[in-house]
Amino acid sequence: MKRTAVVTAGTAGIGVETAMGLAARGLAVTVVGRSAERGARAVERINATAPEHPARFLAADLASLGAVRALADRIAAEGPLTVLVNNVGAMFPDRQDSVDGIEATFAVNHLSPYLLTELLLPALQDGAPSRIVNVTSGAIGVAKRVFDAVEPPGGYYGFHWYGRAKLANLTYTLDLADRLEGTGVSVFAADPGGAATDMTNGTMTDPRIVSPGLRVIWPLVRRKFERATSGPASVAAKSSIFAATDDTLADRSGIVIGPQARPVPTARSAADPRIAAAVRHLSERLAPLTAT
Ligand SMILES: NC(=O)c1ccc[n+]([C@@H]2O[C@H](COP(=O)([O-])OP(=O)(O)OC[C@H]3O[C@@H](n4cnc5c(N)ncnc54)[C@H](OP(=O)(O)O)[C@@H]3O)[C@@H](O)[C@H]2O)c1
Repeated sequence: MKRTAVVTAGTAGIGVETAMGLAARGLAVTVVGRSAERGARAVERINATAPEHPARFLAADLASLGAVRALADRIAAEGPLTVLVNNVGAMFPDRQDSVDGIEATFAVNHLSPYLLTELLLPALQDGAPSRIVNVTSGAIGVAKRVFDAVEPPGGYYGFHWYGRAKLANLTYTLDLADRLEGTGVSVFAADPGGAATDMTNGTMTDPRIVSPGLRVIWPLVRRKFERATSGPASVAAKSSIFAATDDTLADRSGIVIGPQARPVPTARSAADPRIAAAVRHLSERLAPLTAT
């Protein structure tokens, strides 16, 4: 059977490197992004290194739940899916709403991968043994752990809100792994560590993305962060590639793969059942599986 993979935000940064790694391991990869030009370049790069299973590009703005639904419909109609890498992620210096009127950080980093995953579960079950990889971040360490509403209390600080959306997604990842036990679909989180990409180059230079308390030690934080993100995206992609393909993970699920491409302990907050229940209720309310 043809083995297939979908990598969201797979046309640049860590995503395209992940896609190249999966293609080199024999998967026919679909990369998703907004720009057709970037998509064409990515497909060219992937096919230059692994031409046996031609890659393709599908356009979707993953900040839009409607676009996520359309993408899922198209992929699901094509039959079994072996690997889904939810790599999309974004951090915004200023608070903004998505086209659905939902705060954009939460929409892009959690609701979009949540909805795409849920809608593709039948295709992933048909493709079993199959894997879901959700890309996480060390930024969950600065997250407010309150999920009774889309937005946490207090002011908007892009880095903290990004960390909170990634925490929601990590919590969902572990919850889903429990739900899918025995189905042949494994679920992993992959932490890339850091890399100099559009996301980090664009936003981390703006001190407004952290809270005033952290801003005081901003030069220190930045230096630490810049050291952590000085590596190439090809290295940062290793955790996702390992999570999606390594044989040693064959019978495992619900674990986090760290930047060194091996399992690491899970943040305790992500395994808290009260947080999991709150994230589940919020996700089901904001991103119902059937559009209303
Ligand atoms: N870089 C780091 O240091 C770091 C650290 C920890 C975790 N991460 C996580 O790793 C993942 C990849 O990060 P990255 O640094 O590679 O990001 P990036 O450089 O910003 O990713 C660029 C890719 O994202 C696509 N993209 C952006 N917004 C999109 C949208 N709304 N819909 C569809 N595609 C979109 C872009 O294509 P288009 O512009 O054509 O849409 C492009 O393919 C993210 O989940 C991020 O949170 C990164």
